[in-house]
Formats: sequence, C-alpha cells, structure tokens
Amino acid sequence: MFTSMKEALYKAYRQKYAVGAFNFSTIEILNAIFKASVNTKSDIIVSTSEGELKHFGIENAVAIVKSLGNRTKNKITLHLDHGKSFDIVKKCIIAGYPSVHIDASSKKFNENIRLTKKIVNFAKKNNVWVEGELGSISGSSTLHKQSYSDIVREEFMTNPDLARNFVEKTNINALAISIGNVHGIYHGKPKLDFNRLKKIHKKIKIPLVLHGGSGIPDKDIKKSIKIGITKINVNTELRIAYANALRNSISKNKKENVPYKILYSTIPAVQKVVEKKIKLFKG
Ligand code: G3H
Ligand code: ZN
Repeated sequence: MFTSMKEALYKAYRQKYAVGAFNFSTIEILNAIFKASVNTKSDIIVSTSEGELKHFGIENAVAIVKSLGNRTKNKITLHLDHGKSFDIVKKCIIAGYPSVHIDASSKKFNENIRLTKKIVNFAKKNNVWVEGELGSISGSSTLHKQSYSDIVREEFMTNPDLARNFVEKTNINALAISIGNVHGIYHGKPKLDFNRLKKIHKKIKIPLVLHGGSGIPDKDIKKSIKIGITKINVNTELRIAYANALRNSISKNKKENVPYKILYSTIPAVQKVVEKKIKLFKG
C-alpha cells in the first residue's frame, strides 16, 4: 500500500530497526526495489534526487509508485531526496510526494533554519513529512578514486547541541545527520563517529537518517541502528549493480537491439543488493 513516511517508519522507530530508502532513476531499478520489498515482505522507501527526477519525471514517479502500492500489502512511500530549493520541494509536494528532504546543509545555520522552516510550513499544510539536514554529507553517489579520509571532515559533522536547537526551531519530522558517512564508495572503510550518534540520539526524539548507506561495513550499520538510526539511504551500490549488469549484457550481446532483452539482467542484479540491505537493516 502507498503510505505516508510516518506510516512507513512507524514500526521501525518503535522497534529499533531501520527501513531502507533506495534511490531510483529508471523503471528497472524501481521494479527491482519493489520486487525486493515483495520478496522479503518488507516496507520500503523509494527516493529520487533532483537529478534522478529530471530523468524519470515527477508525475511519472508519483503515478508509478502509487500503482505499485496498490499491488502490495507492504508499505511503500515516495521521498524527494536532497531537495535543494523551495521550488523543487513545492513541485514534488504538489505532484503528490508524501515525503521530502530539504537539504540546506551547505548554508549557514540560520539560513538552513529559515529555508527548512519555510518548507515545513508549506509541507504541513499538505500533510507531507519533512526531513531536514544538519552537518553536511560530502561526496556523490558513485565509485571514487579517493580514500574516505580524503573527504571526511570533522567540521562537517553534526553538532548534537545545534541539532536539538535545529529540530526545535524547524519542527521537522526526521533529521539527516553527518557522523562520518559520505555519499559514494571510496578506498578503505568509513569510520562512523558512534559517540556523536549517541549524543545526537539522546537529544533528539525524532527519527534519525543515515545517508551514504553504500560502502559502510555491515557491523557498523548494525551498530548505528542499535544506537538509533531509523532510515538508511542507499544509492551507489544499486547504481553499480545496474551499470555492471548493463555493461555485461551489452558486451555479451553486441547485436541485440531489443531494449527489454538488453535491460533485463539489471533487475535481478539490483534486486539482490536491495534484498541484502533490507535484511541487514532489520537487524
Ligand atoms: O541520499 C542518498 C544516499 O545518501 C545515498 O548514499 O550513494 O552512498 O548509498 P550512497
Ligand atoms: Zn544522501
């Protein structure tokens, strides 16, 4: 069933496990995520970034995800990921997104509060859930040549006291935090600051979101859920599975011209990654 974010996260928040938020930009990836949800009988969040939306289309995303929701008892919700402006967030809300993320984390604290608050006011009138972000999460959702230590900076991490202040002032529904998590996969292993997460969790009584779910070792994911993460965003690992399957398919069948035959293998490849993550997030 197509639901609000509140419904999708409700059980996980109370029972201390996490729901995966998986990005999609093609129908094959969306189908793969949906199949994984059905196969594992799990609730799911599907997300689109601004770039992914440009390719997929806002109205297409709403219509197709709603229609998928009609075909399952599991909860499925649609989320705008890293919306950077009032304009894009408003477009998604008007089109029917039940949940949005306003990422004003690159702005100064007061400006982040101002824009986030403006969006919360608009969203609440439309019954839409808002995720805010404090402390910025570097990188982009792909494979990088650098090491984690090249891009993780302590000064970008979420300050627990400011986080409480931010949540009180903006009235957001969920908070994306920076504790050493980054977007994309780099050399080595990321080091999450679990003490910081504990402090944030003590001060904040709304769901906490871990972005940059790709490349984080399973044991660290489990630990972060135990401390209090409720939503985990994953994109890069799905993109890599999709791209590798597609490259393989094209190189093995150089003369194939039928799109669904070329694309078919991307679905099980992505589904496998999503199912693994869903099981991991359930603890
Ligand atoms: O917002 C999306 C996620 O944070 C994705 O991060 O590409 O590192 O999995 P990831
Ligand atoms: Zn993110």
